[in-house]
Amino acid sequence: MKKIRASILSIIILAVLSGLLSAPAFAQQERPLYLNPEAPIHERVEDLLSRMTLEEKIGQMSQLDISQINTTGIQADVVLDPEKARNLIVNHHVGSFINGEAVPPQQWYEYMAGLTRIAVEESRLGIPIIYGIDHVHGASYMAETTIFPQPINLGATFNTAHSYNMGWVTALEMADVGHHWNFAPTLDVGVNQIWGRLYETFGEDPLLVSQMGVAYLDGFHNNADIAPYRLASNAKHFIAYSDPVSGWDKTPVSLGMQEICEIHLPPFQAAIDAGLMTIMGNSSEVNGEPVHASHFFLTEMLRNQLGFEGVVLTDWDEVGKLVGFHRTARDYKEATYQAVTAGIDVSMTPLTLQFNDALLELVQEGRISEERIDESVRRVLRLKFEIGLFENPFPRSDRLDRIGSEESRLKSLEAARESIVLLKNEDEVLPLRNPARIVLAGPSANSKRNLAGGWTLAWQGGREEQYPERMHTIYSALQAAFPDAQLELMEALPENREQLMGQLAGADVIIYAGGEEPYAEFLGNITDLNLPQEQKDDIRHLAASGIPLVTVLVQGRPRLITDVLGHMDALIHAGLPGFEGAEAIADVLSGRVNPSGRLPFTYPAFAGHMLNYNHKPSDIFFFHPDSQHPFEEPNPGTHLFTFGEGLSYTSFSYSDLRVSADEVSAGGSLTASVTVTNTGDVAGSRPLLWFLSNTYATIPRPVRELKHFERVHLEPGASQTLEFEIRPEEVLWYPDGNCERVFEAGTFLVRVGTLKESFEFRP
Ligand code: BGC
Repeated sequence: MKKIRASILSIIILAVLSGLLSAPAFAQQERPLYLNPEAPIHERVEDLLSRMTLEEKIGQMSQLDISQINTTGIQADVVLDPEKARNLIVNHHVGSFINGEAVPPQQWYEYMAGLTRIAVEESRLGIPIIYGIDHVHGASYMAETTIFPQPINLGATFNTAHSYNMGWVTALEMADVGHHWNFAPTLDVGVNQIWGRLYETFGEDPLLVSQMGVAYLDGFHNNADIAPYRLASNAKHFIAYSDPVSGWDKTPVSLGMQEICEIHLPPFQAAIDAGLMTIMGNSSEVNGEPVHASHFFLTEMLRNQLGFEGVVLTDWDEVGKLVGFHRTARDYKEATYQAVTAGIDVSMTPLTLQFNDALLELVQEGRISEERIDESVRRVLRLKFEIGLFENPFPRSDRLDRIGSEESRLKSLEAARESIVLLKNEDEVLPLRNPARIVLAGPSANSKRNLAGGWTLAWQGGREEQYPERMHTIYSALQAAFPDAQLELMEALPENREQLMGQLAGADVIIYAGGEEPYAEFLGNITDLNLPQEQKDDIRHLAASGIPLVTVLVQGRPRLITDVLGHMDALIHAGLPGFEGAEAIADVLSGRVNPSGRLPFTYPAFAGHMLNYNHKPSDIFFFHPDSQHPFEEPNPGTHLFTFGEGLSYTSFSYSDLRVSADEVSAGGSLTASVTVTNTGDVAGSRPLLWFLSNTYATIPRPVRELKHFERVHLEPGASQTLEFEIRPEEVLWYPDGNCERVFEAGTFLVRVGTLKESFEFRP
């Protein structure tokens, strides 16, 4: 008896603390099971579900945009209109909201507190809302936060610690203001170099994307400093979104199933195995099926084959797009039928209640069963219970000073530094040695927004004046790095050649910072991957001076530079290095940091021929000088730089590549080892990439595949021996077109740099 009273007391104390008793519907004595934090989650889910009306259930399956509940109807205005919110939550039972733009944390806190109060205190059952947002490289939709390099740069570090840090810091900076659900990580594999979302990926290799994604989830899910909060992650965009035939965003994908299984599926499988909670669908059609209407992709593959038990969220207005875009449905109701029967749980509607109305009618007409609705609602409620929303629905403002801390900024800076890729350095023009006079030109020379790219402060990036004052541009970072040099910023090149030469005369070096301006999604669609003509002209004109020319490309994808590469003495691919990016670039230019990034994608030479590094032997069969041995030389010669390329201010050599045995069988293992030596004069780091080539197989195998990577740091003259444990169950199989594992006897090559050793696999 005493025990029971004690536990009732503790429940009441807990409830008072969490503010739940202010929910009007429940007096203390009739506190329902679902509000009991001690009860098992599945019992709480069933209890709550049993109390819900059909309309309330459907509400949990819908997600609306912030524009529908703020005062102006504009996404950027994070000012709650309580009446609009009340109508959607209390009368229409909407269970989730999304989006917004970068306002200060305190404003977000107030917004989320107001919104939560309506859901928890005024709705019949007090179900908290779950708020989703695209904090994709740091809490990027909030002011004053830590903005990391974009994922493509993290890929270039080949260092999963940075991805872990990005997940960890993002969780730290979003949890307290009441953002519960982050639409990250992006697990699309960046195989299509013209696609405008390449920079949101970790690169073109499935292993790299998988490991970066899992590290992100680890940091994001396991940040103990956000207690008592927990957060939901979201991997996107399932599946094969990243390889549209036209290169344009959200356009049709046509891929063999074997390729989908081999290239696009592994990161999602790895994330599911690592406890991923939610997944967002791919907006495109894949092999003739819009993914959001595909039972095959969303249920057979995702649930039955990959074993995903979490929430499937649509991308933006994907139900509506089945009508207006894919045109597989004549009207919204038919589209709703298609998407729900395919397997979605939550529809990002996001501007109307059409989904709720259509789904209600479909159930009332008996076309969709209430059991089917229950399946999805169970998943949504489970998610809300799992992240503790019922216990801790309200944001808090007492720890907001942790946002944008120096400690977090340094994590971002470290990631940016390791992500800078030096691709050319003729006559060791870099690092710059005490230059007396530097001329800096190009559209990214004095821009903050270009460094961070899209999805930063706002969808398409913010306005220049919105970026933090303390953030450097390349110009200000160079001023700090070379305080004694005369640094001249050339905003635009004079048209007159003589005038240009006059202005350049006497400079020790010219730095040209070009590339791209921010873009996101289809606004990044281009028809020509070439670097814009004006920039190529600038490069030619500057090079004509004969003064050493260093080009820094701030870009989300590899803009083609084949015809101007010869004019550059040095080339740095800076990618989109984020808020600390300018400092990282200046550190590399000055030599304070020895560059160690390696390309996470293949840099094509021509728009007419683009391959990934892990292409098939037959991709170059007729092209290769010795087509009998396609595995000998992985480079087909139509790219400028291959995946994994990147120079340093020191040199590294690889030697003594060995395998511990000539053959390995199923269940066994074999150790490959190699010695890396820093043969230059300065300390340096290098990501070591281990590739395997499977030389004969029933399904043609790629010329090489990344199977393991790690970073090594070496002082000048120092060596280290590194090992790669080859276990057949991990690395010697490949998937067939049903995503089933194929183990075949064969001869494998293990390779590091230009070294290779062979061994036999006998399953
Ligand atoms: C994008 C998603 C994003 C969503 C919500 C969509 O258009 O494709 O990546 O998470 O919008 O902003």
